[in-house]
Amino acid sequence: MRVGATIAAPMPASDLSIIILAAGKGTRMKSGLAKVLHQAGGRPLLENVIRACQPLKPAQLLVIVGHQAETVRELAEKMDAQTALQQPQRGTGHAIQVARRAIRKSAKLAMVVAGDAALLRPQTLAALLDTHRRGEAAATILSAEVPDPAGYGRIVRDAEGRVAAIIEEKSATPEQREIREVNSSIYCFTLEKLWPCLAALRPENAHRELYLTDAIGLLRQHNERVLAYVAADPNEVLGCNTRAELAETDRVLRARKSAELMNSGVTMYLPETIFIDPDVVAGPDAVIEPGVQLLGKTRVGARCKIGAGSVLRDARVDDDAVVGAHSNLDSCRVAARAQVGPFARLRPGADIRAGAHVGSFVELKNTVLHEGAKAPHLSYLGDATIGADTNVGAGTITCNYDGIAKHETKIGRRVFIGSDTALVAPVRIGDGAYVAAGSIITENVPADALGIARGRQVNKPGWAKARRRQAAAENKHAKPAKRRASPRKTSRRASPRKALRRASRRGKTKSRRR
Ligand code: UD1
Ligand code: CA
Repeated sequence: MRVGATIAAPMPASDLSIIILAAGKGTRMKSGLAKVLHQAGGRPLLENVIRACQPLKPAQLLVIVGHQAETVRELAEKMDAQTALQQPQRGTGHAIQVARRAIRKSAKLAMVVAGDAALLRPQTLAALLDTHRRGEAAATILSAEVPDPAGYGRIVRDAEGRVAAIIEEKSATPEQREIREVNSSIYCFTLEKLWPCLAALRPENAHRELYLTDAIGLLRQHNERVLAYVAADPNEVLGCNTRAELAETDRVLRARKSAELMNSGVTMYLPETIFIDPDVVAGPDAVIEPGVQLLGKTRVGARCKIGAGSVLRDARVDDDAVVGAHSNLDSCRVAARAQVGPFARLRPGADIRAGAHVGSFVELKNTVLHEGAKAPHLSYLGDATIGADTNVGAGTITCNYDGIAKHETKIGRRVFIGSDTALVAPVRIGDGAYVAAGSIITENVPADALGIARGRQVNKPGWAKARRRQAAAENKHAKPAKRRASPRKTSRRASPRKALRRASRRGKTKSRRR
């Protein structure tokens, strides 16, 4: 993520510990999965939060874990964050008491961040820290003005407009409930001021929990300075409590990613229908059509076109390549100027070299299609190498699996494979060879040879005509019976069955030799 110019101190903040609260269950998600592990924008909520904190370069990043502690810890440690276990979870104030034992002695400031605030941007955290430092405050709250404050703690200010307390909704008076400035659960604390207040917290509320929000009122009672920094965009700082909020968080993160790509020179039509994972890169003048998904570590080169409805995962598409509509690419490579699709399926290990062409309803797996080679229609090519400038006809299948093991098909350069050919692997076709359409190739075809392996054609003159006569006769014969009409014989000619037999015999003797 690029860090905006508003970050005041790109220098490491050696006096700062960031504490991320991630021990809660997230009851309103109604999920078997801990809330901070749910994905938005292609990453777990907690990962998004950790990434927003990292550019501040704190001396310590401490994640408080509790619910599904093992899995949450694994994610945090993967991202070089430390963890502390809060078991049981007795409230946000209790979480900071647990954190205290793990906080570095050198830390003077702590920033507390909710583990589900996945839309947070580093600039906002930097501005909060800056406000706190400049204001020489004991605590600075990141607050937000919202149209509907229901469910949030309210920022109560005194007659002079200074922060007096945070009042949770359940304890609020009707007048306090009218306040639209709410607590984001993100704060900066000066630790020597916080510790005495934290020790004084009492679980005097409906949930019998220790509320970190009560520390604000206590600081004010000790005449300490408490500030609030109002976030420019309330949606950025508020957490994600329900599935609907998760969907909205995902939407915003996707839109940010799309905006980032468009800013770097990528064309996107109906970007709100396009779904791009955070690690995806795309080159200038690439064109991405509606309904495309670019997932995982997909890389799209300059001037590529990715057609409508295509899904690319961990795919590399080089400059000037074209992916036609409704193609599916997974862990594969499409080199410069190559064309695939529409309706192509490239499975892991598909390697389409420069200028090669994969057409519609063609599936490739673990197969190299060398420079300029073509497989334009309806084929399966698995565990194969196809030489440069070779043409693979429609309906060609590599029979790579014998029920036990996979085998290789090797096709040379400038080969012509006729349509509807089955290549029974292991098998090799030499450079410049031809394979006749409809062949079932079980033996190698030498270079420059013609391989043909199919039943000979037999033409039976008059057979069809005789067949029609027989059918008509049987029909006539049947109808009167139905109608109970005359049982009189219907034909004076020789029996049609005999004529059909005769036609068949003629065919056998007269068929042309190849
Ligand atoms: C909290 C605030 C509220 C604020 C709101 C913003 C309190 C008492 N209230 O309420 O003022 O408007 O956030 O979203 O702090 N957690 C722990 N351990 C615990 C309890 C919670 O780590 O024992 C973590 C949760 O995982 C979560 C965060 O703390 O990430 C906030 O907890 P949550 O239960 O969501 O608090 P709210 O009721 O939303
Ligand atoms: Ca919350």
